[in-house]
Amino acid sequence: MSAHDRGKLHFSAKENWLNDPNGMVYFEGEYHLFFQHHPHGMTHGPMYWGHAVSRDLTEWEELDIALFPDEHGMIFSGSAVVDWNDTTGFFGGEPGLVAIFTHHLEREGQPALQTQSLAYSKDRGRTWTKYAGNPVLKHDDYIDFRDPKVLWHEPTSRWVMAVACGDTVCFYASPDLKEWTFGSEFGDGIGSHDGVWECPDLFELAVDGDPARSRWVLLVSIGDAPAVEEGSRTQYFTGFFDGASFVPDAASQAVRWLDGGRDNYAGVTWSDVPKEDGRRLLIGWMSNWKYANLTPTEGFRGAMTLPRELALASTPSGDTLVQRPARELERALVPLLELADAPLAAAAEALAALRLDICLIRAVLPAQSSFVLEVRKGAAETTEIGFDAKLGQLYVDRTRSGRSGFHPQFAGRHAVAAEPADGRIELDIWVDRTSVEVFACGGQAVLTDLIYPSPGSDGFSLSSEDPELQLPSLRVFALELPGR
Ligand code: FRU
Repeated sequence: MSAHDRGKLHFSAKENWLNDPNGMVYFEGEYHLFFQHHPHGMTHGPMYWGHAVSRDLTEWEELDIALFPDEHGMIFSGSAVVDWNDTTGFFGGEPGLVAIFTHHLEREGQPALQTQSLAYSKDRGRTWTKYAGNPVLKHDDYIDFRDPKVLWHEPTSRWVMAVACGDTVCFYASPDLKEWTFGSEFGDGIGSHDGVWECPDLFELAVDGDPARSRWVLLVSIGDAPAVEEGSRTQYFTGFFDGASFVPDAASQAVRWLDGGRDNYAGVTWSDVPKEDGRRLLIGWMSNWKYANLTPTEGFRGAMTLPRELALASTPSGDTLVQRPARELERALVPLLELADAPLAAAAEALAALRLDICLIRAVLPAQSSFVLEVRKGAAETTEIGFDAKLGQLYVDRTRSGRSGFHPQFAGRHAVAAEPADGRIELDIWVDRTSVEVFACGGQAVLTDLIYPSPGSDGFSLSSEDPELQLPSLRVFALELPGR
C-alpha cells in the first residue's frame, strides 16, 4: 500500500475496494459507517458491507465485515436505524440496530433481481443476523430497485422507505420494517435523468436554523452515463413530505447539485443522531463511476468525503442546501500561519515558504478581483483553486494536478456559482493526500475533487489579477490527529 495515497482525515478500507457509504447510524456513543466493499478485489465486484465506527467522526476503527452475500445475492447499498421500540420484535423489547439493504442476485439469461432485505444486531453492530423472511420488498416492474433509506416518520408513527426505482424514487411505509405499503412515486418530469437514480435520502431540515420553518430534502444520486461528461453526481430537491408523497418546492424545478466537483457521490446522512445534537450529518463516496475502477492506488481503492453538516439557507433562489465539514474536524487543526489585512505580495510570499501535502487553508478574499490559489504544487504539476470575479464562479482546476492519464475525462476544470457576502469570498480548502474539498460562501459553493500529485508536490502559490489586492485574512493549518 502506498502511504502517499491514503488520506489522513478520509476514511478508506484497510484493503481493497470501497464504494458507497451505507447504514450510517448513531447508537450508544458510536457513529457507524458501513460501506460497499469488495474485500477480495481492487475493483467493484461481489459486494459486502464493510464496517467502521467512530466516536468523533474523525478517527475510524475498521471492524469485521458486517454483511456477507448469501442465497438472495450480493449486499448492495442501504441504511440502518435504531428500532427504539422494538417494532420488529427482534430485540425482546429492547432497542437494537436494523439494517435495510438491497439484495442483488445475478441470474443466468435474465436481468439481475434486486429486492430489499433486513438484518439485525443485538450487540451494537458487531454481529448481524439476516431476517429469515427476506426479502421483505420486491417490485414486479423495475430491474433497478435499490438503496433503501429508512426513517421513522414521527407524524404518522410509521417507518418510511425511500428507494430508487429506475429513474424515480418510490416511497413505502411500514409499522414494523417487515410489511411495506406503497405510498407514491416521485421524479417523473422533474430533476436530472442523465442516469439511473440511486441512493435516495429523505430528511427534514430547519430553514435558517428556525425550527418553525422546516422543509424536507430529498437527495438523489444519478449514475454515470457514457454521454454525460460529469459522470455520476448527486442532485437534491426541497419540498414537503406527508408520510406518503413528496411535493417539491418551486425552486426544485431547477436541477440543483449537491457538489460542483466530480467526486462526491452516493452521499447519505446519519440516522438517529441525538435530538440534543440535532445535526444532519452526511458522508459521500469520494469518487465517480466514470473512473472509480481505474484510479491510481495500491492496496486499497476508494475513500469517503469528509463528514459534513447539512443545513438549509433561504436565498433569493429558494431554500438552498449548504454544507460545512463536521465541526469535530477542527480538533485536528494546528495553526501554522495567520495573516490579517495582508497585501497580496506578503500573503503570497508567506504561502510560498510553506511545504505541506495535508492542510486547511482558511481565507477571506475581496470578491471584486479574480484570484488563484495553488496547492500541491511541484515542478511540473499544480492544483488550482480559483475565483473568476467576472463569472462569479469558484473552480478547481485539476488539469495539471498529477497522474490523470488513467481516464480521458479525469483532467479538467470544475466550476460552481459563488455568491460573495459583503463583497468577500470566504473559503476553506481542505487538502488531503489525494483530494481537495472547497467550502465557500457559507457552504453554498462546494467542490470535492480527487487529485493524484507526486508526494513531493507540496508547495503553494497565490496570485490575483489585481496586484494591489488586500487580503482580509489568510490562515493555514496543518492537520494532525493523535497517533496517526
Ligand atoms: C451507487 C450504487 C448503488 C448500488 C451500489 C452497488 O454507487 O450503484 O446504486 O447499490 O452502488 O455497489
